[in-house]
Amino acid sequence: MKKNNIVLIGFMGVGKGTVARAIFKEFGKISIDTDDIIESNTKQKIKDIFEEFGEEYFRDLEKQCAIWLEKNITNTIISTGGGFYKQENLNKIGKIVYLKSSFEAILHKIYSSKDFKKKLSKRPLLQDTIQAKKLFNYRIEQYENKADIIIDVENKTATNIAKEIFTNIQGK
Ligand code: S3P
Repeated sequence: MKKNNIVLIGFMGVGKGTVARAIFKEFGKISIDTDDIIESNTKQKIKDIFEEFGEEYFRDLEKQCAIWLEKNITNTIISTGGGFYKQENLNKIGKIVYLKSSFEAILHKIYSSKDFKKKLSKRPLLQDTIQAKKLFNYRIEQYENKADIIIDVENKTATNIAKEIFTNIQGK
């Protein structure tokens, strides 16, 4: 039996945090976010960790976080950084929900947001759009392979996505 956490995976900017908050509002389930856990424990912003120590070091921090989640967390919504899906123990943490969207829709969402500068600057791997698109193309299949359920999120409100997750998650 899988643990009763819900693990939200998907590309940067797809709205994992927003959906987690909508789940809280609709269903009262508390959520945590792997990037927030890393930032609060290191007292550093993700972009500064990348700049100072590099991506590999950040991935090690994600691994530590994944081990902790598996051992300690139940009945929680876990939103994750876009590369967290690589964690070997991912399916032991909970039921995996992939929030799926096209790259173009993600970019559109970010650029049309009023704080788009902040959204971009906090994501080191989204600085170069061509590289980010390559990363997106590479990851699509990997996200799909890891997922227990796939939710197409394009043109849907966070509230409707939250409801769809709960309808689909039964029995997974
Ligand atoms: C990353 C996604 C980011 C953050 C880090 C690396 C990735 O999280 O973990 O910048 O590898 O896709 P978001 O998906 O919340 O932007």
